Amino acid sequence: MASYKILLLPGDGIGPEVAHEAEKVLAWFGRAGLGTFETETDLVGGAAIDAHGVPLTEAALGLAKAADAVLFGAVGGPKWAGVPYAVRPEAGLLRLRKDLGLFANLRPAICYPALAAASSLKPELVEGLDLMIVRELTGGVYFGEPKEIVTLEDGQRRAVDTQIYTTGEIERIAAVAFDLARKRRNKVASAEKHNVMKSGVLWKDVVTRLHAEHYADVGLEHVLADNCAMQLVRNPKQYDVVVTDNLFGDILSDVAAMLTGSLGMLPSASLGAVENGTRRALYEPVHGSAPDIAGQNAANPLAMIGSLAMALRYSFGLSDAADRLDAAITRTLAGGTRTRDIAGTGVNAVGTGEMGDAIIRELEAPAH
Ligand code: NAD
Ligand code: IPM
Ligand code: MN
Repeated sequence: MASYKILLLPGDGIGPEVAHEAEKVLAWFGRAGLGTFETETDLVGGAAIDAHGVPLTEAALGLAKAADAVLFGAVGGPKWAGVPYAVRPEAGLLRLRKDLGLFANLRPAICYPALAAASSLKPELVEGLDLMIVRELTGGVYFGEPKEIVTLEDGQRRAVDTQIYTTGEIERIAAVAFDLARKRRNKVASAEKHNVMKSGVLWKDVVTRLHAEHYADVGLEHVLADNCAMQLVRNPKQYDVVVTDNLFGDILSDVAAMLTGSLGMLPSASLGAVENGTRRALYEPVHGSAPDIAGQNAANPLAMIGSLAMALRYSFGLSDAADRLDAAITRTLAGGTRTRDIAGTGVNAVGTGEMGDAIIRELEAPAH
């Protein structure tokens, strides 16, 4: 039986609560004989600051590099509002993405049939939605230098963030989007702001050339990022794959999350380049540490469990197991099990742990 090394980084707030449910599901797959899953757990974010003074230790980074996949919960929270910028909780996650080379962030937004009414949009606009946002994750304004606040002679302070993209960075993320589209509905929308930003001009140019040279069979549309945000709430089903930069992708994926019913529904995969047949990967829900509901057994673990399904598919090659987990999520929702965020009025909500248990019950049920 194949053996897989997994590093669990639960983090802060609801991170450990949802990560625990993914661990339960992973243990079930182990018991079911799908593989030997060797897990290690370490601290990240605020939890690592409390223990070590930094949001990611070199030891934890080493474990992440040695793992076949990292399962990440969430980081941050008001407790660490005062820590220096360089060692804030979120810096631990950004360092993991950068140092592992995880440039391709896949954020699928799927509206499960049973949740069409839970979306803030009219059900007919979201029913059957199956959208993939491909977000560039290791470049752009997140990492560009200079990034600083300086005090001017007149006493004012001036903040600078720098958006940088190179041809190579744009080409490799666009190639990921085109390759994915070919296995889906064969359409890519590339979102940037070439009307305002030089990086947008280059982005559009590189995507256009790559398309003409290697992907002319795939439908390509260029859309300004602000228009894309509007289109996502006007008529989201027009899109198949949306490819965009780091910052626009962050914002557009939170918008897409609400189309599915809740931010607690959106999983993600962050992938590196393929080297010798393998690639580094980290799987995490799109949501954060949700300080407003942390510690209440109220968080929806499906974004985290869905991220585990992506790990089974993209890192372990266990696509049958991934299909089985996705089907268990669909059936659990169809059966009416709801955490508070997707319950709506008048529906009894279950807790985080009960949702995890319900998924495992469906995994155990004979195939329908
Ligand atoms: P958030 O995603 O934590 O929460 C936004 C809203 O969505 C909250 O009302 C929250 O209760 C709700 N929500 C989020 N996940 C949910 C779930 N699984 N089930 C039910 N409801 C859920 O965003 P925020 O409040 O803006 O940020 C809080 C902290 O999290 C900040 O420190 C931020 O930097 C951090 N953050 C971390 C990550 C990450 O670790 N990947 C992602 C986003 C935000
Ligand atoms: C996300 C988060 C992160 C981001 C933060 C926590 C650094 O919002 O993964 O969507 O902005 O990328
Ligand atoms: Mn975000």
